[in-house]
Amino acid sequence: MTRLGVNVDHIATLREARKTNEPDPVTAALVAENAGADQITVHLRGDRRHIQDRDVELLREVIKTRLNLEMAATTEMIAFALEVRPDVCTLVPEQPNEITTQGGLNCVAHFDPLKDALRKLHEGGMAVSLFIDPEGEQIEAAGDLKVKMIELNTARYSEASLYITPANEKAIEAEFRKVRAAAEMAAEAGLQVLAGHGLTYRNVRSIVAVGEIEELNIGHNIIARASLVGLDQAVREMIALLK
Ligand code: PXP
Repeated sequence: MTRLGVNVDHIATLREARKTNEPDPVTAALVAENAGADQITVHLRGDRRHIQDRDVELLREVIKTRLNLEMAATTEMIAFALEVRPDVCTLVPEQPNEITTQGGLNCVAHFDPLKDALRKLHEGGMAVSLFIDPEGEQIEAAGDLKVKMIELNTARYSEASLYITPANEKAIEAEFRKVRAAAEMAAEAGLQVLAGHGLTYRNVRSIVAVGEIEELNIGHNIIARASLVGLDQAVREMIALLK
């Protein structure tokens, strides 16, 4: 079975919208673990727009599965990771005003700074994954960087399959094939293959069928669904208090 890492960033997005203390991403992580999640994933951004340092520190203490920290390869984040010691550090590119992570790391253009970041994390005993686009040259560069794991960016497949209609079947298939070919190439090169970004209840099955992909990290669509399937109970509970 493909492992599931649940990204709880957007529980923190909701909390930070009011700068208050609910909903709590740590509580959400425990619920996700209780439901069977294999891993909790969080992205500590340089601008701290959702997850805060304290969330990661608390998660490190309380979760019973694995903690995957998505982070930019900056001096600040490397020092934080070495202190908090997540089970996996996933290096991602980060732009100040992006809505979400835009594309994978460019391991070719940023080979030397990535090598330096990986050296520091590996010397500190950390397991590191690189978030990359499903492209041959990125997989080769990741191999040259001597990582054991990569996470394939499924964003383009996810964008193509946002609406699954006969009109865009070919585009979906084309993006899916890129992910599958990249997964096969990476596994052949001896890399552990993970994937994620933008996956939904509607488009995830094809990705699950790619045997080389061992783990998926999914956030937004799970939290989006939770907000709707939980709303009925939440309204009933408030009405009960108004009686
Ligand atoms: N994997 C990585 C590397 C990511 O940056 C993200 C988004 O934080 C995800 C997976 C999860 O993406 P989504 O929230 O779209 O499911």
